[in-house]
Amino acid sequence: MYHGATPPRREIDLEMSARFQDKVVIVTGASSGIGLETALAFAREGARVVLAARTQAKLQEVVDAHPDLHERLRVVPADVTKDEDVRRLIATTIAQLGRVDILVNNAGIGMRASIAETPPDDARSLMEVNFFGPLRCIQAVLPQMRQQGAGQIVNVGSILSVVVAARNGVYCASKFALLAMSDTLRMELHGTGIEIISVLPAYTDTPFFDNMYRYGNVARMSPFQGQHPAKVARAILRGCARHKRQVVLTLSSRIAIVLRRFSPSLLDFIVRQTGQRAAKAESKT
Ligand SMILES: NC(=O)c1ccc[n+]([C@@H]2O[C@H](COP(=O)([O-])OP(=O)(O)OC[C@H]3O[C@@H](n4cnc5c(N)ncnc54)[C@H](OP(=O)(O)O)[C@@H]3O)[C@@H](O)[C@H]2O)c1
Repeated sequence: MYHGATPPRREIDLEMSARFQDKVVIVTGASSGIGLETALAFAREGARVVLAARTQAKLQEVVDAHPDLHERLRVVPADVTKDEDVRRLIATTIAQLGRVDILVNNAGIGMRASIAETPPDDARSLMEVNFFGPLRCIQAVLPQMRQQGAGQIVNVGSILSVVVAARNGVYCASKFALLAMSDTLRMELHGTGIEIISVLPAYTDTPFFDNMYRYGNVARMSPFQGQHPAKVARAILRGCARHKRQVVLTLSSRIAIVLRRFSPSLLDFIVRQTGQRAAKAESKT
């Protein structure tokens, strides 16, 4: 099982030190990949972190693998597609820790399929996790954050929240929707002290690619080396520390965003070429 391998180097920004001390942070999808690294990164900075995901055993393994952080990690199993689970997640956090300073909506699932071959029921299930999951968590946590007059909500989208790629249409739709909700919510919460931070990672090396819905012969890895999930975790912490509205992690993502705006046909061409190279590599496996 993936336990969050230690990244090659750990940058601790001076601005981060003490900023998260004793903050109460909830991370969904915290048993694996980006969520796991984010939970550990907050705990290492002194936060009290509630780890949520569907599988209690996997969450407990994360805690057991980090005895140095025991005091700072708590497990509350929750499926973000279930109203009752989400209500219990927020209520348990408030009952045990008294407040919620930061909610990281990270739980998500991928799908590799053309629009033509995507079963609508699977598309609906994906939207339940990637869009309605964060919506449920946000609606459940807002009353507490309003009462506090402060809070940060981090929504983990993707570069595919702003750029599309073939055979990722439904996944893109879920992440575009999440970004639209985040931008709207920021407007609606203006002046309340509650901040909305969208984080748009590019390809990250996690078990995401084993867990995704996929159809046909699709390899786990694209030919491109993904970034370490700890890098995304650090970007999330920096985004919170710097009160960012949106965090884009890679140079190629920034270039793609500019091209999308000023030369969408060129971007389509580049993404198509990249996709074809990936498909060729997949067909060899
Ligand atoms: N990996 C990438 O290249 C990449 C790039 C851009 C954005 N992202 C986004 O980053 C986020 C994290 O992805 P990852 O790469 O870290 O994936 P991952 O390693 O597969 O982790 C997904 C996590 O979500 C949990 N989860 C899945 N369904 C859930 C549900 N219904 N309720 C609660 N938890 C659930 C999983 O645990 P259980 O199965 O036990 O519930 C697991 O902890 C996702 O939103 C993804 O879209 C990933």
